[in-house]
Amino acid sequence: MSSSIQDEILKLKEEKNAIILAHNYQPKEVQEIADFLGDSLELCIKASEIDDKDMVVFCGVDFMAETAYILNPDKKIVIPTMEAECPMAHMLPEEVLLEAKKEHPDAGVILYVNSIAEAKQHADTLCTSANAVKVTESLPHDKILFGPDKNLGNHVAEQIDKEIIHVPKDGHCYVHRLFHIEDVNLKREQYPNAEIICHPECDMKVQNACDKVMSTGGMLRYIAQSDKEEFVIGTEIDMITRINSEVPGKKLYPLLEGAICKTMKLHTLEKIRDALVNEAPEVVLPKEVADNSRKAVEHMLNASK
Ligand code: 13P
Ligand code: SF4
Repeated sequence: MSSSIQDEILKLKEEKNAIILAHNYQPKEVQEIADFLGDSLELCIKASEIDDKDMVVFCGVDFMAETAYILNPDKKIVIPTMEAECPMAHMLPEEVLLEAKKEHPDAGVILYVNSIAEAKQHADTLCTSANAVKVTESLPHDKILFGPDKNLGNHVAEQIDKEIIHVPKDGHCYVHRLFHIEDVNLKREQYPNAEIICHPECDMKVQNACDKVMSTGGMLRYIAQSDKEEFVIGTEIDMITRINSEVPGKKLYPLLEGAICKTMKLHTLEKIRDALVNEAPEVVLPKEVADNSRKAVEHMLNASK
């Protein structure tokens, strides 16, 4: 830590009464200047508890910053670059969801928080990888429209007795799609004493071949309390940076070196500094969209307690 630009950011943050929220996939130098690091659910909870701050600098992808705005429409939410989009979130346009709802009027609607705000308006609730099973159980419906991530939907379907209908049919994360069962087999050979953990955005074959499946925040907590020393991590590469900095003494191996979420890496220290100076680019949603989607965000936060 402590490059001059990091010092500059820390000073600006105080002056502006800002908080820097960052996702676990941010690169090391950004993790180091963040006030709070977490998975999507932890970031959402934190964003609901920042009454004393005037500004949020959100180092994550678009849907995360939008959710922070939905919870804090009167605060300034800035994102170091607007180009930090999650492609999966854009795989479910509002009209596709509305069409599916027309086709299945008796279904409850659960959207992964990795979705655009325009679609969130039409959901009964949201979920993240940390609470998807619990939230799905919390709805009274036997039939659930679930999107956009097909793999997370299948992960839920395996654990509960409800019909899951995917919307769209094949929503996915291009990063987690890189993992294959051959990678799991190879790591088992290379590291026979390691436990292999993957994210529920991975294909079901990969999930079933791994020892554990959990959210990024879940991985951190699980490894911190485990007596085991070696782990293979099946998610974005900088999750290892995060675990290494918090849980020293473990041996962590990536399931795949090339598992990089490109848009998460667009938030450089220079852009974070400029975002603090300029208080821009600002994340703002139309009032109606923010108001309509707030009930789904709040339902999820209550259902995860
Ligand atoms: P987590 O909520 O588990 O951090 O996952 C977010 C995400 O986008 C994974 O690709
Ligand atoms: Fe989106 Fe995948 Fe990146 Fe997560 S890893 S933010 S799901 S593109």
